[in-house]
Amino acid sequence: MAQVFPRRANTVARGSLIGGIGLILVLAAAYWVYIRTPLFTGVGSPPPQPVPFSHQIHAGELGIDCRYCHTTVETEAFAGMPDTKTCMNCHTIVRAQDPLLAPVRNSFSTGQAIQWTTVNDLPDYVYFDHSIHINKGIGCSSCHGQVDQEPLMSKGASLQMGFCINCHMHPEQNVRPRDQVFNMNWKPPANQIQMGTQLVQEYHIQTKLSCSVCHR
Ligand code: HEC
Ligand code: HEC
Ligand code: HEC
Ligand code: HEC
Ligand code: HEC
Repeated sequence: MAQVFPRRANTVARGSLIGGIGLILVLAAAYWVYIRTPLFTGVGSPPPQPVPFSHQIHAGELGIDCRYCHTTVETEAFAGMPDTKTCMNCHTIVRAQDPLLAPVRNSFSTGQAIQWTTVNDLPDYVYFDHSIHINKGIGCSSCHGQVDQEPLMSKGASLQMGFCINCHMHPEQNVRPRDQVFNMNWKPPANQIQMGTQLVQEYHIQTKLSCSVCHR
C-alpha cells in the first residue's frame, strides 16, 4: 500500500513535538521568573488610596511611633488600623481646610470608616501573627521595608513562602535586640551572626519549619 504520509512527515512531526516541549519549557521558565518579579509580587508599587497618607511625613519627619496608629501590633495577630479619630487628633487643627483631607473630615462627620486599600495580603490559607515576631526581636523593616521613607505605602517584601522560610530557617541572621524593632534604619552589624546566635538563646527562638505553623 502506498504511504499516506510522505516520509518527511515523520521529521515534521518529530520537529513540532520537540518544538512543542521546548515551548512549554520556555513558558514554564518564564512563569517561574515572572512570579518572582516585583511586577507580579507588587513590591515597590503603591496601590491607590482614598487619602494620600504619607508614612514619610507622619512616621519619618514627624516621628510618630508606629504604635500610635497600629495599636495592637505587639499584642495581637493583626497590627490594627487607626480610626478616623486618631487622624482628627491633629487634623482638626493642622490643615483643617486642606482638600486632600476632605475624605477624612467626611468620615469623621458621618462615622463611616475610611476604606484603605490593603497593601500586604496573604492568602486565607496562611496564618500570620505580628505579636510573636515583634516580641522575638523581628523588626517591622525586615518585612515592610523602610516605611518611614515612603510617601505612599507599598509592599516591602514578596511575602511568598520562600521569604518566610528563609528567616525561619536562619533566625540568627535576622533577629535584632528588642529595643530596635521599631527602628526603621537598623542594619545588621558586622557581628550579626554572633549577636544573633546569642539573642536566639536569650529570646528562646525556635526554628519553626513544620507546615502546620503557617497552614493550620
Ligand atoms: C499617623 C498614623 C500612622 C502611623 C504613625 C503609622 N502608620 Fe502605618 N498606616 C497608617 C494608615 C492610615 C495606613 C493605611 C494607608 C496606607 O497604606 O498608606 C497604614 C498602613 C501601613 C501598612 C500597610 C498595611 C497594609 O494594608 O498592608 C504598614 C506595613 C504600616 N502602615 C506600617 C507602619 C510602620 C512600620 C509604622 C512606624 C514606622 C507606621 N506604619 C506608622 C497610619 C499610620
Ligand atoms: C500627631 C499629629 C498627626 C496625626 C495623628 C495625623 N497627622 Fe496627618 N499631618 C500632620 C501634620 C503636622 C501634617 C503636615 C505636614 C506638613 O505640612 O509638612 C500632616 C499632613 C497630612 C496630609 C497632607 C500630606 C501632603 O502630602 O501634603 C494628609 C493627607 C494627612 N496628614 C493625613 C492623615 C491621616 C489620614 C491621618 C490618620 C490616619 C493623619 N494624617 C494623622 C499631623 C498628623
Ligand atoms: C515577619 C514579617 C512581619 C513583620 C516583622 C511585621 N509585619 Fe506587618 N504584616 C506582615 C504580613 C505578612 C502582613 C499581612 C497579613 C495578612 O495578610 O494576614 C502584615 C500586615 C500589616 C498591617 C496591615 C494589616 C494588619 O495586620 O492590621 C500593618 C498595619 C502592619 N503589618 C504593620 C506592621 C508594623 C507596625 C510592624 C512592626 C512593629 C510590622 N507590621 C512587622 C508581616 C510582618
Ligand atoms: C525576618 C524573620 C522572619 C520572617 C521574614 C518571618 N518570620 Fe515568622 N517567625 C520568626 C520568628 C523568630 C518566630 C518565632 C519562633 C519561635 O520562637 O516560636 C516566628 C514565628 C512565626 C509563627 C509562629 C506563631 C506561633 O504562634 O507559634 C508563625 C505562624 C509565623 N512565624 C508565620 C510567618 C509567615 C507566614 C511569614 C511570611 C509571611 C513569616 N512568619 C516570616 C521570624 C520570621
Ligand atoms: C513560615 C510559614 C510557612 C511554612 C512553615 C510553610 N508555608 Fe506554605 N506558604 C506560606 C505562604 C506565606 C504561602 C503563600 C505564598 C504566596 O502568596 O505566594 C504559602 C503557600 C503554600 C502553597 C501554595 C502554593 C505556593 O507555593 O504558593 C503550598 C502548596 C504550601 N504553602 C505548602 C506548604 C508545605 C507542604 C509546607 C511544609 C513543608 C509549608 N507550606 C510550610 C508560608 C509557609
